[in-house]
Amino acid sequence: MIRYIAGALVLIVLSISAVDSRTLGDDVLKLPSEVSNFIHGSSSSDNDDDAVGTRWAVLIAGSNGYYNYRHQADVCHAYQTLKNGGLKDENIIVFMYDDIAFDEQNPRPGVIINNPLGQDVYAGVPKDYTGENVNVNNFFAVLLGNKTDLTGGSGKVVNSGPDDHIFVYYTDHGGPGVLGMPTYPNMYAYDLIDVLKKKHASGTYKSFVFYLEACESGSIFEGLLPKGLNIYATTASNAVESSWGYYCPGEYPSLPSEYDTCLGDLYSIAWLEDSDLHNLRTESLKQQYKVVKERTINKDLPYGSHVMEYGNSELSVQHLYMYMGTNPSNDNMSFVEDNSLPINSMAVNQRDADLIHFWHKFRRAPEGSPKKMKAQKQFLDMMSHRMHIDNSIPLIGKLLFGFEKGAEVLKSVRPSGEPLVDDWECLKTMVRTYETQCGSLSQYGMKHMRSLANICNAGISKEMMAEASAQACVTIPTGSWSSLHRGLSA
Ligand SMILES: *[C@@H]1O[C@H](CO)[C@@H](O)[C@H](O)[C@H]1NC(C)=O
Ligand SMILES: *[C@@H]1O[C@H](CO)[C@@H](O)[C@H](O)[C@H]1NC(C)=O
Repeated sequence: MIRYIAGALVLIVLSISAVDSRTLGDDVLKLPSEVSNFIHGSSSSDNDDDAVGTRWAVLIAGSNGYYNYRHQADVCHAYQTLKNGGLKDENIIVFMYDDIAFDEQNPRPGVIINNPLGQDVYAGVPKDYTGENVNVNNFFAVLLGNKTDLTGGSGKVVNSGPDDHIFVYYTDHGGPGVLGMPTYPNMYAYDLIDVLKKKHASGTYKSFVFYLEACESGSIFEGLLPKGLNIYATTASNAVESSWGYYCPGEYPSLPSEYDTCLGDLYSIAWLEDSDLHNLRTESLKQQYKVVKERTINKDLPYGSHVMEYGNSELSVQHLYMYMGTNPSNDNMSFVEDNSLPINSMAVNQRDADLIHFWHKFRRAPEGSPKKMKAQKQFLDMMSHRMHIDNSIPLIGKLLFGFEKGAEVLKSVRPSGEPLVDDWECLKTMVRTYETQCGSLSQYGMKHMRSLANICNAGISKEMMAEASAQACVTIPTGSWSSLHRGLSA
């Protein structure tokens, strides 16, 4: 086993250094100062934006842990962008675990940055829902404006009316049909869509925009989000691919040397940095979608993903101003197709960002130090957890469907436009059954959600799944990632 892990470690190191050696293009930031005169004096652009109605925003980071620094950094940055845009604190509701700024590993205590050259984005962020209060139940209660359903937190909810505009931004790990939460259970697509339907039925918004960053995030809306809800959603990736961490250790542009964790995510910083640059009265949702799509595909896959749009795309002609306001100091920065951000540099697969973090910690710790031992253990724990998950799921497939057909059934992807699974309760049952026998899927294991969905789609019963899982996993591995101390994830 140890030898196997050492082999895997060598492979990982090789792939990391392969990533290191890639070079970037020479695109540069182009500011539109020369177009400012042309723009100045034009006011035709903002007359479709709200004369009435309040802008509401819900921002949520679904992770915790210093190795997931980037998700909370994205959310803090989003808060600053909206605040600069003129939204009021009473209308911005923030969910973040809040364990980053003062983590002992943070080289700048009390400061969070979302860009290598970036300013602090942590100061002033409202701590509406932190720690254990970042959970699905509170998130849904906030969206629905239902105070009686809250447990803990500031009590702020989206208390919106029929003329209002709502913007929701989520960032974290995910998997097909599921989004991570720092406190279990995770959020399932079907339940989220159900809440959006209820919100719509309550008649408490005019239009609604949802920006979503997670692996396989397209699967959250694919075949599920009806156009009639008047919601426009964009996602960091399609239903079958990873999303990407960005501003990561060892990549270009390089981080301040004291950082060993990714500072942002590619789709997230693409929309945030674009919004920070422009007069948002002049930029439509559709234009931002295109800019973000181009940046997030990152020229040459596989170091990028396909940004997708779902729901009512007619809303995308609206200006960003309707949801984000606009920073008065950008008044002369009108959006034109060519003044957007650079497309360059390296991203790290969302699911490998933690490995890179632990690897950097290991590499940088003094030889023979307790720190080095600890970092090595963290890295090896992560690797062995991954191997356990990546081995046990396919084995269950073989036990259920036969040696030949197992992989084929587990890996099959439904045609685009169809949801991942028909019976979402079955999917949750399969997750619980697996975890009871084999240990926690944890954030990495969300990757295999499609296999579990396909087990449901094939009509396998809970009892058959329990039997196959028991055969595949004799015991629950002892490492912290497999441990069920946080409960079942579904
Ligand atoms: C709010 O939540 C409570 C508790 O779950 C529930 O009983 C009530 O029906 C909800 N109210 C609305 C308006 O949805
Ligand atoms: C925008 O340009 C006008 C005219 O050049 C100038 O008077 C104004 O101060 C500028 N606004 C900002 C925010 O830079």
